[in-house]
Amino acid sequence: MTKDKLIVALDFSTLEQAQRCVLACGEEVTYYKVGMELYYSAGNEMIAFLKEHRKQIFLDLKLQDIPNTVSRAVRVLTRLGVDMINVHATGGLKMMQAARQSVHEEAQRAGITAPKLIAVTVLTSMDEAEFAALNYKTTVADQVVALAKLAQQAGLDGVVASPQEAAQIRQTCGKDFLIVTPGVRPAGAATQDQSRITTPVQAIKNGADCIVVGRPITQAADPQTAAHAIQQEINHKG
Ligand code: C5P
Repeated sequence: MTKDKLIVALDFSTLEQAQRCVLACGEEVTYYKVGMELYYSAGNEMIAFLKEHRKQIFLDLKLQDIPNTVSRAVRVLTRLGVDMINVHATGGLKMMQAARQSVHEEAQRAGITAPKLIAVTVLTSMDEAEFAALNYKTTVADQVVALAKLAQQAGLDGVVASPQEAAQIRQTCGKDFLIVTPGVRPAGAATQDQSRITTPVQAIKNGADCIVVGRPITQAADPQTAAHAIQQEINHKG
């Protein structure tokens, strides 16, 4: 059974808490996401710890700035030797193209495998009403697909999107485009601030390659059991 379809979001503010979670999940979890909170507090130590434990790493810093700034930042992140990094698709085509070029140049220069570079489309916490207030004059679904196409045009490896939009992205961008979906909740779990959600199985059935799950595992009384249940579910598709 492959376990790298499940990426566990280590949304902690201290190294100790995050390390405890990784140790508690044991062999059930092979892929972790380090986001802003943990990276800003203990980033490089945490990355070293995950590498020592032979885990894969998605560094979720959602970069967005002018192309020059993002491409220079991406060079630094590439040198960390992580497996996946991301930028906001709303940064635009030129920003994404510049990021892609930097990832590949820097990886080649350092003699390492280039991390996958993916783009955030529309945050999974956002519902239609909140999205409408941004005044894009389109629906969330149409915006997500438009941004996915733009990311593909820029040569990125894939996108972060809600599992509710995964099927349409798969149809539009083809089978080799990576779709990573947060906003996943096991049946009966609390939704917290997530909005466009599905269950883990539904996310995979909709075409997601990987699902990102945070609180349902990290805040569980027994994270390993919670992770195991999701692994079983997605590997046997319910
Ligand atoms: O705890 P929960 O399962 O909601 O965690 C989801 C994780 O995925 C969080 O770390 C959040 O930052 C991230 N994420 C998201 N929606 C996106 C991109 C990333 O929820 N569009």
